[in-house]
Amino acid sequence: MRRPLVIANWKMYTSFSDAVVLSTAIRDGVENISGLEIILCPPAVWLTEIVHIIHKNINHLSLGAQNIHYMNEGEFTGEISAPMIRDIAKYVIIGHSERRKNFDEDLPIISRKVAAAIDASLSPIICVGEKKQSQGSASEVVKELKEEISDIKKEDYKNLIIAYEPVWAIGSEEPATPEYAARIITALREVVHFETPILYGGSVDAANVYKFVSRPEIDGVLVGRSGLKAKEFIKICRIVAEYKKIV
Ligand code: 13P
Repeated sequence: MRRPLVIANWKMYTSFSDAVVLSTAIRDGVENISGLEIILCPPAVWLTEIVHIIHKNINHLSLGAQNIHYMNEGEFTGEISAPMIRDIAKYVIIGHSERRKNFDEDLPIISRKVAAAIDASLSPIICVGEKKQSQGSASEVVKELKEEISDIKKEDYKNLIIAYEPVWAIGSEEPATPEYAARIITALREVVHFETPILYGGSVDAANVYKFVSRPEIDGVLVGRSGLKAKEFIKICRIVAEYKKIV
């Protein structure tokens, strides 16, 4: 069975003290929630502090980075490699639409990053999603995913996490409908291993999360804004755990 997941992408938010307070509150709030894995992806600069905060007797709470370079080391000022992240985190987000838009990351770069993560024994959280709302055709997103994983072996597919994040639903007021998301996710499932979790992301909050995770096709959620509010995020984790227990 695929494990349910809730992932928080903190993006370029939080001061040092915000990060300490938020991760401590989340750790304490999710301690007694079972049946899912929770992954926090703070800015890389706070990872080494947060790793000490969250690793207190809780093994369903893990850390991820928001980006890596595809080279392991070298003259790449300002960059962080997969082996560096592996020492403190288990996961890394790759191919987020904000990196594509703001840093010109294209599919060949993303597939090299995915391969670098796998080589370093990190699990990549691979983002896919169409820029404009379509009529529910999955072909664009399926093609994108196939290219993103083109540099890794099929036997590594089970170590991936896929996040379907329609670009038009990120940071907006309106998420995709659960039916729309489920239809695309069903098509993505054909590409990966049956154990690969596939999540939905884009304007998820504590009020709407049940609509997504009540669908068997959707294994969890990747949240942005809702991951920066401890109470809201803990509520989301609780709802996901409840729904995934029933299904
Ligand atoms: P929001 O939840 O703020 O829409 O952001 C989603 C996202 O980009 C997560 O990676």
